[in-house]
Amino acid sequence: MLANKSFKVVLTLIVAILGLADYSSAFWRMECRARSGYAQLDPLVSYGTASEHIHSIFGGSGFSETADTDTMLASDCTSCSVAQDKSAYWTPPFYFQDATTGEFEAVQQEGGMLAYYLLFPNADETTVDAFPSGFQMIAGDTNQRNFTYPVPDLEKSLWALDPKYTSQAFLRQAAIGFNCLNYDTTPEGTLYRHFLPDKSYMDANCKDGIRAEVMFPSCWNGNTSSPDQMSHVAYPSLVMTGDCPSSHPKRLVSMLYESIWRTDLFEGRDGQFVIANGDPTGYGYHGDFIMGWEEEFLQDAVNTCTSSSGEISDCALFDIQDSDTYSACSITEPASLKTESVVSGLSSLPGNVPIMSGPGYANGATAGGSYSTDAPVAVPTLSYLPGSSVDLSQATNVVAGNVIAAYKSESATASRLSSTELPGAVLAQDVDPTPMPTPAPSTPSTSYASTEFVTNGLTVSEIFWAEEVVTITVQATETASVVGRKRHVHQHRRGN
Ligand SMILES: *[C@@H]1O[C@H](CO)[C@@H](O)[C@H](O)[C@H]1NC(C)=O
Ligand SMILES: *[C@@H]1O[C@H](CO)[C@@H](O)[C@H](O)[C@H]1NC(C)=O
Repeated sequence: MLANKSFKVVLTLIVAILGLADYSSAFWRMECRARSGYAQLDPLVSYGTASEHIHSIFGGSGFSETADTDTMLASDCTSCSVAQDKSAYWTPPFYFQDATTGEFEAVQQEGGMLAYYLLFPNADETTVDAFPSGFQMIAGDTNQRNFTYPVPDLEKSLWALDPKYTSQAFLRQAAIGFNCLNYDTTPEGTLYRHFLPDKSYMDANCKDGIRAEVMFPSCWNGNTSSPDQMSHVAYPSLVMTGDCPSSHPKRLVSMLYESIWRTDLFEGRDGQFVIANGDPTGYGYHGDFIMGWEEEFLQDAVNTCTSSSGEISDCALFDIQDSDTYSACSITEPASLKTESVVSGLSSLPGNVPIMSGPGYANGATAGGSYSTDAPVAVPTLSYLPGSSVDLSQATNVVAGNVIAAYKSESATASRLSSTELPGAVLAQDVDPTPMPTPAPSTPSTSYASTEFVTNGLTVSEIFWAEEVVTITVQATETASVVGRKRHVHQHRRGN
């Protein structure tokens, strides 16, 4: 698998969680710093066979084209930092297509992957459920290629007033984020931009790459899976927080994946970025999960590891592995795996996936057919908007009704509804608040951070967290395993 990983923890920042007391701010950040695999495998979508596109895989070594909770729990090791977490976490990786040669090369993934376990109970409860044994799910839709809502998002405190914004279709798209990284500026908010900015925007603004984010649904109907691996779960009304729909009343751990892609290393080169599923827009970004904890253990952790620091080391139950141990963990490759370069000099994306730019719904079934490429489509304009860090002890930004003012910017307010369009609504930007405290400038190249506005009815509060930066260097000539497409085990889907 991957060779020569060197790890350098540059800085650990104290994590600050700022929130109002009406919901839990407990969470932990599962660090999965080493890949366990880079392969055309996806047991949730392509059970028993090669998957259509390639994935970047983290977690237990028991991952395969037929993986489930049992095989994950039987893993010998995990590439994540907590020894008890044998779960499988995977997303499609990013590629750069050179405009001159037409060839593709893999974009380096930095720092592995983080899976946030956020513990937000339902409004009338104090705890959340662990993922049950056998649980698996997909967040996002690989074939989605358009976004039919205003950019940027309507204020979250107004979503409940418009059925369009409470639809699962919207919430699923609002659960994807591409954070333009520039460690010299105040970071953008988590899930702020739901599309991949174009190459020229990235060259001009994202000098430290792009952080891809995908929030998973945390409401469920009690089934561990469903035929589409999605419909047994649903988003709460505000994506991350809010109320569960009555069809999916139970509240699970709220999970968010983050991974950093070094798009900045292609600065100045003419071409485009495309996700491995043939998506240059970002609307089709997605993540997959298979539960690989002992269920009782995970429930104990959910009940007791309620620090607001996010640090896994603050949870006494967790056995923390050192980097030599987790870096040595790889998925077990079936004998039929063949090895070919999936890194550079590629005439197509791995799996011969065509580029499908939309705006129509992409047809995943065309992947693997004759190679073709849609013409590029225009990307929305969404300029940099700093996230904010709020010091609630000063409380200068809390305005009447307990609404914390959203950051103002011309571009951010321009397309939003005004309060006259939705009588009775209180728009944060309509209230003239005391100016937001100026966030401390982040130290260049040493820290990155996220912010997330969390609203509960018209109460808007905010989470802020800062993270350590870990640099992983992966040899540029890395090759990875691809399941031979000729091999085709009988394919079936498992419902529940
Ligand atoms: C759970 O799955 C079963 C079998 O697919 C289905 O019949 C049942 O309706 C599902 N339960 C809910 C609450 O949707
Ligand atoms: C946008 O995507 C949806 C699928 O989510 C599709 O039904 C619709 O046709 C697309 N819109 C356009 C203009 O292609």
